[in-house]
Amino acid sequence: MRQLIAFAIIALCALSALAEENIATLRGHAPLTQEGEPPQIAKPMKDDVKKHRNYPMQPPVIPHNIQGYQVDLKVNKCLSCHARKRAEDAQAPMISVTHYMDRDGNFLADVSPRRYFCNQCHVSQTDARPLVENQFKDIDQILQDSGK
Ligand code: HEC
Ligand code: HEC
Repeated sequence: MRQLIAFAIIALCALSALAEENIATLRGHAPLTQEGEPPQIAKPMKDDVKKHRNYPMQPPVIPHNIQGYQVDLKVNKCLSCHARKRAEDAQAPMISVTHYMDRDGNFLADVSPRRYFCNQCHVSQTDARPLVENQFKDIDQILQDSGK
């Protein structure tokens, strides 16, 4: 009986070792004793063209470079163009009215603290290859499929 259990454990280990070969890890397939090739940094799309929004409340993706744009307690580089006061000079779209609302729906004079850290919601679209296929369906597609 003991031998049988020992054999079963060995077989299991061998099987899991085999399975691990195919597991995607952050290390890739680099052996433990070597440093793997770092993946290329994906290029942000910076063509200045508005991207399609998949649903009405989607935070639009950023169509320009934001590398090195500082956003902290003292400085908000994004607001230097997107704030209401700056939009005309910068010819940037003004942050919309929701960015001035607190959680109780009151309108504030300036950007709401909960909308201060822009990159919490807005990101640049990169040219990275998707890791998994996206099966999201736009509402228009759903309506079309249901024949309405
Ligand atoms: C130098 C001015 C400038 C700065 C700084 C800037 N933007 Fe922009 N942004 C623009 C302009 C102009 C556009 C309009 C499209 C274009 O020309 O790229 C734009 C477009 C956008 C859009 C797309 C809006 C839409 O309706 O699709 C988003 C989102 C955005 N910016 C977010 C940001 C965030 C977040 C930051 C800070 C990390 C930032 N921007 C910093 C000028 C700026
Ligand atoms: C909590 C998430 C969140 C944060 C933080 C946030 N946004 Fe947005 N933003 C949104 C959403 C959602 C929309 C689309 C719906 C709307 O306009 O409210 C949007 C829309 C926009 C638009 C398009 C406005 C329009 O009228 O088309 C711009 C430009 C923008 N945001 C810039 C910014 C900037 C700059 C900051 C930082 C100061 C910021 N956002 C912070 C969620 C966020």
